[in-house]
Amino acid sequence: MKGIILAGGAGSRLFPLTLVASKQLQPVYDKPMVYYPLTTLIESGIREFCLISTPHDLPRFRQLLGDGSQWGLSIEYREQAKPEGIAQAFLIAESFIGKDSVTLILGDNVFYGGDGFNRAFAEFTEGATIFGYHVNDPERYGVVEFDGEGRAISIEEKPKAPKSNYAVPGLYIYDNEVVAITKALKPSARGELEITAVNVEYLHRGELRVCRLNRGFAWLDAGTSSSLHEASAYVQTIEKRQGIKIGCPEEAAFRNGFLSLGQLEALTGKIPKCEYRDYLAELVAETKRLKAQ
Ligand code: G1P
Repeated sequence: MKGIILAGGAGSRLFPLTLVASKQLQPVYDKPMVYYPLTTLIESGIREFCLISTPHDLPRFRQLLGDGSQWGLSIEYREQAKPEGIAQAFLIAESFIGKDSVTLILGDNVFYGGDGFNRAFAEFTEGATIFGYHVNDPERYGVVEFDGEGRAISIEEKPKAPKSNYAVPGLYIYDNEVVAITKALKPSARGELEITAVNVEYLHRGELRVCRLNRGFAWLDAGTSSSLHEASAYVQTIEKRQGIKIGCPEEAAFRNGFLSLGQLEALTGKIPKCEYRDYLAELVAETKRLKAQ
């Protein structure tokens, strides 16, 4: 399974923050926003990534994440010259995807808690798997409608009159057919290759699975100044209370076996003295304590 992180867009709703750094590089509490979706996919077992962003912002992402080898990953970079839709990612990254299945995550989606994703990844074999999450303002999202037996029967992009409160979060798992499906799409009225159109095609083929994420799961949107602030406050609250970090790629890579304890220790040693380093140093120390028992 390959992973695509889409971190494009003008970030106009965060102006003037986005004059010099793109939305997905803004801090969500103590880390750049893109760390969160990256970590979500590492936790799902993905090691090979392609990050797509604008020609203007791509160098900053490269500077931040490098080639991924420091975390036992590989990260490639591709440009999206114009914001022509989320699904365009599959055309831009076609050679990266190759013959594999692929998960696309949006660079401004922050997820936390539950094992909803892990189960979906473990059970994925073919077709498409997307998710449904109960929200207060479904008209802002792709909206999925279920029948009485919990089967998805329609998906609409930002409908004026939503047929349910279930929004589709920005994490989509597809088999290799997604490339051919996207190639056959026509741009929507707003001139974009819509991810919802891809999902509708899988639905028509009878190959779409929609997993409802339960209430123990947090999906935060960080696209406006107040939702960015709320996402930061949420992360701070959980991290402080639990003494854990959300969206820490080093930790996720280590826990998934992409980094050995020795590699994690060496990596931690290179981080300047700060709270982030203290956290990783404690993870190293705790692992050693447990091993010694
Ligand atoms: C996009 C998708 C929408 C999805 C949302 C999740 O919306 O088009 O279907 O529910 O991401 O964040 P956009 O971010 O372009 O408003």
